[in-house]
This record gives sequence, C-alpha cells and structure tokens, in this order.
Amino acid sequence: MDPAANPFRPGAGRKPPVLAGRESVLDAFSVVRRKAEDYAEGDRGWILNGLRGVGKTVLLNELLSQVTEKGWITAKVEVTPGTPLPVALASALVRSMRTATGRHPEPRLRRLLGVFKAFSLKVNPASGVISLGVEVNPVKGVADTGRFADDLAMLFEVLGETSRDLGIGTLILVDELQEATSHELTAVNTAVHQIGQSDAPLPITFVGAGLPSLPAQLADATSYAERLYDYRHIGLLDNAAARAALTGPTDGRDVSWEPQALEQSLSIAAGYPYFLQAVGKHVWDAALTTTITIDDVNVGGESARQEVDEGLYRSRWERATAAQRQMLRAVADLGGGDATTVAELVAAMGKKRVQDLSVARNELIKKGLLYAPERGFLAFTVPGMHTFITRQD
Ligand SMILES: Nc1ncnc2c1ncn2[C@@H]1O[C@H](COP(=O)(O)OP(=O)(O)OP(=O)(O)O)[C@@H](O)[C@H]1O
Ligand SMILES: [Mg+2]
Repeated sequence: MDPAANPFRPGAGRKPPVLAGRESVLDAFSVVRRKAEDYAEGDRGWILNGLRGVGKTVLLNELLSQVTEKGWITAKVEVTPGTPLPVALASALVRSMRTATGRHPEPRLRRLLGVFKAFSLKVNPASGVISLGVEVNPVKGVADTGRFADDLAMLFEVLGETSRDLGIGTLILVDELQEATSHELTAVNTAVHQIGQSDAPLPITFVGAGLPSLPAQLADATSYAERLYDYRHIGLLDNAAARAALTGPTDGRDVSWEPQALEQSLSIAAGYPYFLQAVGKHVWDAALTTTITIDDVNVGGESARQEVDEGLYRSRWERATAAQRQMLRAVADLGGGDATTVAELVAAMGKKRVQDLSVARNELIKKGLLYAPERGFLAFTVPGMHTFITRQD
C-alpha cells in the first residue's frame, strides 16, 4: 500500500498513531490535572520506569501536550551526560516563561520571573542574555545560593505559588533521569520532598522517566525516595492493547487484517511497542491490497525484524568488546529475556569470584546494554536483545 499513507511510526519518541494500553496512566494524570486546576493542589512526583523502546518518552510528550493546551507552566528536559541538569532545566523553563508572560497579567508573574532569572544566572552565567519577554531584575537570595538542591526547592516553591495564583499548574518532566549524577538526583529528591511538605501542596508536579534501574538510583541518593514518588512501571503491551496499536491506525484508513495475518504480526512484536510500530509499518508497505494477508506479514515481518536488528540491537552489540560479548551471551543463555544473577554468571563463565566480572559488568551498564534490576542481578535494557544475540555467530 502507499507508503505515504502509512500511519505507523517506529523510532524514538515518535508519537504513535494510537497510544495503546496506557489508559491507567492517562486516567491518573487527569486526576493530577483536575486537582491542580480545580483545587489548586499538587500531587506526589511520578517516576515512569521501563525498558528501552516501551514508550516512556511518548507518554511524557502526551502529558506535556495535555497541560500545554491548558496554559500550564511546563519544562521538559532530557538528561544528557554533557549538560548539567540545572542548566538544562533553566533553559527548558525559559520558553514556558516567555509564553506565560504573553498569557497572564505580568505583575502576578513578576516575582517568579525575577527568581527564575537569578536562578538561571547562577547556574549558567551565559544565560544573562536570555529574554523572558519582559524586563525583570533578578530577585537575589531566593534560588541563587549555588546549592542546587536548595535552589531547585525554592524555584519549585515559587513556581508552585505562582501557578496557584494563576489557577494553573506547573509540570516538570525529566526524561532519561537515570543519566543524572547522584548529586543531581539528591537535589531532585530534596526539591520534590520540600514541595510535598506544605499544608496545602502546591500545584506543581514532577514526572521523571528512565530505565528500570531508576528507582534504585533515586533510593541510593536519598533513603526516603521510596515513599516520595508514585512509581509507575511502563511495560510491554498486553494482547488487547497490542491489537489496538495495530488495528486502530489501519481501521482509521479503511484497511483490514485477515485474522491469521493479525495473529502472526502480534506474535512477531510480542507486545513490544517499538516493534509493533516497525511491524505495522513494514507490513503496510508490503501489503498488496487494503486487506492485509499472511503473505504480506511474512514479507513485512522480515523487514521489520531487520529494521529492529539494525536500528536497535546491532549498534549495541557492536559497541561491546569480545570479553563483554561473552558476558552478554551468558546473560542471554541464562536469563533469556529475564534477569539473571551475577552469581550464576560467575559460574557459567568459569570465573571464581564476583569481582572477576565487575569490570565487564560496569562497562556494559555504562554503555547502557545491561542494568541491575536489583542488587546482584543483571538484565538487558532492551526487550528481545537475547534473541538477537542467539542469532549471532
Ligand atoms: N502505547 C504505545 N502504543 C503504540 N506504540 C507505542 C506506544 N508507546 C510507544 N510506542 C512506539 O514505540 C516507539 C518507542 O517509543 P519511545 O521512544 O517513547 O520509547 P522509550 O521508552 O522512550 O525508549 P527509550 O528508553 O529508548 O528512550 C515509538 O516508535 C513509539 O511510537
Ligand atoms: Mg525515551
């Protein structure tokens, strides 16, 4: 069928034609929104955690677009190793502040803008040139002590107070939070902790997203983190949701699936959102008529597998050294798609002590191939990596 009309969108952070199976998160978020707008009250911070390609970024984008429509103050940041979190946050907030100045009476924003300006200047002196849409003097001594934890907490507080005044909310989204330093995670925890403590929690909500190692990293940063956040695991899609991810977009274009073709596609994708988009896309392109047949799926499914191999697995595999690959193979053999214990790995790889594996283990974690779901365990960060590895000679 015409590739130009293809609705599927495999890739990173690309909005899927149907955001399937995430109703519970979206319903919970609509409560957060109503609480802020109708009762001027905030909620606990959220942490969305899940493997690579399950749809954390598209969920963050969905939350963002819901509140942007409502005129909220928002910031969305992706943590990257080279950029300190305070700098990234400050520049993400600038745009929102500029929009807010056009939308709300300026005197009610003045204090926030001044505090924000001082915060920005402190974390990044180069930001002195930023324009917030109106002339404001930095408000000194509130969020510019240079201690990120204290400054962030104060900035959140002023953001929350201003939002309450304006009858809106503030939403702060941080993607790839597992990449933040432990110092930055401590600051985030402290700030989120502070805003939750006032009698009437201010209408500011923090949502962080990252790999499944994130909850443990946050807990290592401050012990109370376990109770601080509402943790939501973003997993593979169940059968009904996976079906909706494939058939929703085709129904909308008067395209149908022969039952066997649909079953086969579902079985190839195994509920993995990125794979569902890849299968949908390639099967669509391979289809000869507006009824998708098993032949189309055989052809398209193979192209989808190649796309996922090349786009996801191979680059990761090639980043590993020979010794690291040996370890990856052992993780695949022992755990399949599940976690394996380091103790089992030691035995399987003919080593004596856990320390003998620690260099390879740490490197593979640093390269983002493995993570520790809990102490003493290792698992792949990408669903299906084990099947790719077993196909390599
Ligand atoms: N609920 C969903 N239904 C259908 N497709 C989805 C869903 N969620 C995500 N996708 C698709 O899966 C792919 C990956 O999504 P996304 O980049 O948001 O994942 P991620 O969890 O952020 O991955 P990473 O950890 O690598 O950043 C995209 O092509 C997206 O369109
Ligand atoms: Mg992402």
